[in-house]
Amino acid sequence: NTHLIIMAGGIGSRFWPFSRRNYPKQFQDILGTGQSLLQQTVKRFEPVCKPENVYIVTNQDYKDLVMEQLPNFSEDQILLEPFLRNTAPCIAYASYKIKSKNPKANIIVTPSDHVILDTYSFIEKLKIAIDAAKSSDKIVTLGIKPTRPDTGYGYIQSEEIQNEDVKKVRLFTEKPNLEMAESFLESGDFVWNAGIFIWNVKTITQAFEIYLSDISEAFEDMKDDFYTKNESKSLEKAYSQFHGISIDYGIMEKADNVFVVQCDCGWSDLGTWKSLHEQAQKDENENVITGDVMAYNTKNSIIKTSKNRLTVIQGLDNFIVADYDDVLLVCHKDEEQRIKEFLATVKKTK
Ligand code: GDD
Ligand code: MG
Repeated sequence: NTHLIIMAGGIGSRFWPFSRRNYPKQFQDILGTGQSLLQQTVKRFEPVCKPENVYIVTNQDYKDLVMEQLPNFSEDQILLEPFLRNTAPCIAYASYKIKSKNPKANIIVTPSDHVILDTYSFIEKLKIAIDAAKSSDKIVTLGIKPTRPDTGYGYIQSEEIQNEDVKKVRLFTEKPNLEMAESFLESGDFVWNAGIFIWNVKTITQAFEIYLSDISEAFEDMKDDFYTKNESKSLEKAYSQFHGISIDYGIMEKADNVFVVQCDCGWSDLGTWKSLHEQAQKDENENVITGDVMAYNTKNSIIKTSKNRLTVIQGLDNFIVADYDDVLLVCHKDEEQRIKEFLATVKKTK
């Protein structure tokens, strides 16, 4: 009775220029494994969820990409959003649809762009989380031991109960500023939110009613249109009225029935070039190189080219060189948070 919602509609702008609006990173084989991040995600959850209970929520522009990458999925399993409205509407849409067929379903929600190296311990922890959530009103999330004061994550502090796998959350802070992130890290009692959630459908729809009632009302109103020809029209109407909001700000920070299961399973959000550098296979000079590249006196860098031409590099240390389609980016690795800013300027001026 476990259902899986895979969120695959983001555009991954911190990974620009490889992640583009027309070809976001979840559809790419970023690590060179032979499978896209989305395909790897589907595979990872096979031990806990039947294939027919998996739903992909994505933008309507990516329908063909999803169908091509997941040929065994039926069209009913691919939920298409008309606009980008962040993760709360995406989760609500899939949850209300699942509820209309199966009001007792358990749900796992996962991003589509993560890497998990130790699938075995991941599945063990996931089962503990499913057990905790299935017949209770617990909102469960997975926690990861933090390694740096990264401001791109949610931080979770739980109650100090020893030897308990499922801990009640005291504080959930989404994307703190650097100062806060540093103090959370120093205190030693915070974990990162992995962005993977487990609950039953009743719990999550109740949370929407309490904390994001405009979204829950919109889906209650359109529920007779699910699985009919009117669905996409009603959805467009609903989405045009939503403000973009993530589940983290919208529900996780506010709810008081949040629990965390710590899961140290080689998790990484491949959100940024630096995280790719950490995860990918490196050569003897700590470079991650893909494409036809000759690199001299170059170290700690990511050189990624996709074109059919030779790239020759000399003397770079700690750089990103990304050559994709009509864009060539050369950026210091420690300045990568500025990529969003470059992209915004490009959008305005080109
Ligand atoms: N369908 C759909 N629609 N998917 C979306 C949308 C949308 O509008 N927006 C984002 N997604 C997908 C992304 O493709 C990604 O797989 C996932 O939802 C999470 O979105 P991100 O934009 O990557 O979130 P984040 O990384 O900033 O933050 C979240 O993940 C962190 C861990 O990686 C939060 O949950 C943080 O608290 C968490 O620490
Ligand atoms: Mg992310």
